[in-house]
Amino acid sequence: MAASPKLVSTWSFAERPCAEAWPALRDGGSGLDAVEAVCRAVEDDPGVDSVGFGGLPDRDGAVTLDGCVMLDPCRCGSVCAVERHPYPVSLARLVMERTPHVMLAGPGADRFADEQGLAEAALCSEEARAKWLRWKQRPHDVDQSRDAGYVPRRPVDSGTGGVLYPDGSGHDTVCALSLDRSGTLAGACSTSGTPYKTPGRVGDAPIIGHGLYVDPEAGAATATGTGELVMGLCSSFHVVEQMRCGASPRDAVLTALRRIRDAFDLRPVHQVAIIAMTPGGERFAAALRPGYKSVVSDESGTRVEEPDEVVIPGER
Ligand code: GLY
Repeated sequence: MAASPKLVSTWSFAERPCAEAWPALRDGGSGLDAVEAVCRAVEDDPGVDSVGFGGLPDRDGAVTLDGCVMLDPCRCGSVCAVERHPYPVSLARLVMERTPHVMLAGPGADRFADEQGLAEAALCSEEARAKWLRWKQRPHDVDQSRDAGYVPRRPVDSGTGGVLYPDGSGHDTVCALSLDRSGTLAGACSTSGTPYKTPGRVGDAPIIGHGLYVDPEAGAATATGTGELVMGLCSSFHVVEQMRCGASPRDAVLTALRRIRDAFDLRPVHQVAIIAMTPGGERFAAALRPGYKSVVSDESGTRVEEPDEVVIPGER
């Protein structure tokens, strides 16, 4: 029996990309094409300063990009620390489809992109470079995850794609999950990592099982937010494994987020949101703290939604 297609993505900056990807998915297109198209459109948006071309650079002014795609444990691809090519999810898909490997890193990933004929591009937008130059005047404002001294605030979504880090840096990974008419689950995620990160730092987004996990038998999950919190607990894999053991997406996501809440000494900047989907298309999204929104496309159209639950609701 044909499945009812669905597309879910993180943060309201994905609203237009989801609306544009939806008609093809609705009309029988592939879910992998849909999640790639959503990530690619966000990667292309210079107004999004946490993903792709508009992403904020590392401490030394270099933008590096991470991304992955996944259909099942035997079909996944990933790239990290890409310096010269603007579409990490498309590159990750080529790793999946044209190599025997799962992950290519740094100069090797860029060389693979050259070999595949992908166009290179200068990755730092003028706006991102201007923000980096301003940041350099405040040397304690380092790394979203582990900085000391200056305390940045966590990202808060305006609901209209607006970038609302109160201190001027953008919010987080674009993650997309889809179910297509053939019943195939697919996922992708893409990020430029934390603002002004330590050079060489790679977060959860491109690591299979951390920022994304898809298993056709059990379901799919993907995480956005402070990568270090997700990496310590393999959160996407954790969610899918719970669903494999019979948990609902709600219970699986909330258990994973509560593990993060209880395991870490949370700081004001920390946020994690996780979205999950079952093989039948049941979905659930929750965030550690207020301020996160999802985008959903289904037969009712495309809309920005509040998370189904917030684990630490009192914090504004
Ligand atoms: N969640 C994206 C990152 O931490 O790099």
